[in-house]
Amino acid sequence: MTLLHGDCLATLPTLDASSFDLIVTSPPYNLGIAYKSFKDTAPREVFLNWCKAWATEVKRVMADDASFFLNVGAAPANPLMPHQLILALTDGNDPLFVLQNTFHWIKSVTIETRAGEQVSAGHFKPINSKRYVNDCHEYVFHLTKAGTVELDRRAAGVPYVHKSNIARWGHTGGADLRCRGNNWFIPYETINSRDKERPHPATFPVALAEQCIRLHGKGTATRLLDPFLGIGTSAIAARRQQLASFTGIELDSHYLETARERVAADADRAAGELPLLP
Ligand SMILES: C[S@@+](CC[C@H](N)C(=O)[O-])C[C@H]1O[C@@H](n2cnc3c(N)ncnc32)[C@H](O)[C@@H]1O
Repeated sequence: MTLLHGDCLATLPTLDASSFDLIVTSPPYNLGIAYKSFKDTAPREVFLNWCKAWATEVKRVMADDASFFLNVGAAPANPLMPHQLILALTDGNDPLFVLQNTFHWIKSVTIETRAGEQVSAGHFKPINSKRYVNDCHEYVFHLTKAGTVELDRRAAGVPYVHKSNIARWGHTGGADLRCRGNNWFIPYETINSRDKERPHPATFPVALAEQCIRLHGKGTATRLLDPFLGIGTSAIAARRQQLASFTGIELDSHYLETARERVAADADRAAGELPLLP
């Protein structure tokens, strides 16, 4: 596992071309989030050009059949950024990437059962507004070089509710797993102390990165890169999925140190058969 301290714009050019199978990352969202080192307040055009610059380097280090899972969220009063970013990366005369799939990371949801019961799950971050509803999702854009990367949909699949469908439908191949689709309900785990257990303002859950690893479907041979490592969530996912290689880059030395500690603690907990941290 290689955890590098630095600006990914400077560090990515030092990595070999075509040397990664999978990128799972979440850059700053340009929403004024209070990171320790990075100033998340650039004018939108400046931010989008900066994203194009690092994404060009990401593309260079991707193998031709690599997948790039890009997680971005918005804010109720600032809803356009994910759309502007994905257009900046996929549109125009010489697009960097093809948008192969769009996933919705659902953090909180309420469904009505057939019996009429309302069931709520996940974590709800309340906002006080007469104009906006609560924002309960983020995007995970699946970008590839040519739009032709084959995925292992069943590796990230869900068991059939009606088992009779397994034999009835030829495409199941007899397996009790169907494609999960593009709505991923992945709640944050409950924590007692944000400062101690998740000391960062914008993390994704380990399970989200694990889902991307499984879906890309190259197993433990996968070489994973996260150029915006934060406190190391994708590194923990790589460890849990026993990946051959993981490289992370983080600008802030405190976050990087926390990432090292979290990965080590996760390995210790796994070895001690204790419940894994979120
Ligand atoms: C949205 S957070 C990523 C959080 C991460 N997914 C996690 O779960 O911990 C973005 C991170 O990018 C870092 N960052 C900002 N600019 C960077 C740069 N130029 N190179 C590397 N990291 C940078 C920030 O310090 C922040 O930790």
